[in-house]
Amino acid sequence: MGILGAGPVTQAIHLPSLARLRDILEVRHIMDVDPAVAESVAARVGARFSSSMEELLADPAVEIVAICSPHQFHATQVIAACRAGKKAVLCEKPFAMNGEEAAAIAAVSAETGVPIVVGAMHTFDPGWLAAESAWGTLPDQVHTIRSSIVLPPNPRFEDFATEIVGRTPPPAAAAAGTPADDAAADIAAAKATLTGGIMGLAIHDLPLVRRFAPDFRAVEVLHAQTVQPFGYVISLRAGAVAIELRAAMNGTWEPSWTFEAIGDDATLSIDFTPSYVQAGSATARIRTAGSTTVLGPYGHNGYEGEWRKLAELARGTGAAPDPDTLIHDLEFALAIADAAAACVDAGAAAYEEARA
Ligand SMILES: NC(=O)c1ccc[n+]([C@@H]2O[C@H](COP(=O)([O-])OP(=O)(O)OC[C@H]3O[C@@H](n4cnc5c(N)ncnc54)[C@H](O)[C@@H]3O)[C@@H](O)[C@H]2O)c1
Repeated sequence: MGILGAGPVTQAIHLPSLARLRDILEVRHIMDVDPAVAESVAARVGARFSSSMEELLADPAVEIVAICSPHQFHATQVIAACRAGKKAVLCEKPFAMNGEEAAAIAAVSAETGVPIVVGAMHTFDPGWLAAESAWGTLPDQVHTIRSSIVLPPNPRFEDFATEIVGRTPPPAAAAAGTPADDAAADIAAAKATLTGGIMGLAIHDLPLVRRFAPDFRAVEVLHAQTVQPFGYVISLRAGAVAIELRAAMNGTWEPSWTFEAIGDDATLSIDFTPSYVQAGSATARIRTAGSTTVLGPYGHNGYEGEWRKLAELARGTGAAPDPDTLIHDLEFALAIADAAAACVDAGAAAYEEARA
């Protein structure tokens, strides 16, 4: 396999997963626009390196392509990998930045027959998959969903995993302007944080949410607020289902990532391992009056699950993810991001009106 983009996710998440899977997958080529990063990361795994996507895609040693570049390059690179006749593609989330890009990807995947796996790792977590096989009619009765994420900032886990080369420094804080400028900048910053939080973090669990909220096009955001230093609190409805999305990235000593789907007679709750951490799978609990079924933890997590799936697809076994499901997952995320941004605008307009 070959990897486009050799940043922290490749170095701290994927290479450690792949190191345990050398009997089924070998990294043959690593590409990054920064040749020094590509060379250094490729040397760790004895792979060829380059700084050009075309060179990697033309490499016959590469049968599976993983796209781990920043978001804005995903759609072009997924399409190019499909057109290059590779056997399967992994694209880090989000796999596209708008509905048009997503539709273009689905069309190329259908035309070329190249299966695409999106790096929403919880959907490949054995704890989640075991719950899915066991929950029976739960989706018919769920009325409330909660996704709650408390994590340290990514570099803490990255630095536990490896020595990162070429980390991009965080953007510098903007200089202070006039009060009117500052208010507009605060609103723009809140909208950017919400969009970044939804498309970068909440998006891991939105495919899970959607399993219990089939009316995903009827999104209404009731409340959307940012949390310092980074996070969000969003309440929304999708049809008749009430959904609460919370995230806080702070100096926590105890990371926690939970998902709950609550119905009248049964409840599913899942504890996921934090992102970056390779410590076995999630543990799921399905509870009804008088009985609790505990599923997991199993030996590997969703990151490894993604790679196992890709190896299967490249061998021509196993069912490919349904492109419509991937598109609908993305549409759901985009709809929440748009409605959350509109909620911030509406709040700011109401405040101005009250002040006037
Ligand atoms: N699954 C997860 O748990 C998880 C966690 C964090 C980030 N991510 C996703 O992984 C992706 C990469 O994240 P990161 O933290 O490594 O990002 P990053 O932006 O810090 O690093 C990406 C790397 O890509 C390189 N790059 C830039 N433009 C490129 C191009 N056109 N082609 C190839 N490489 C290019 C950069 O030089 C850098 O080395 C993002 O899409 C992000 O959303 C996933």
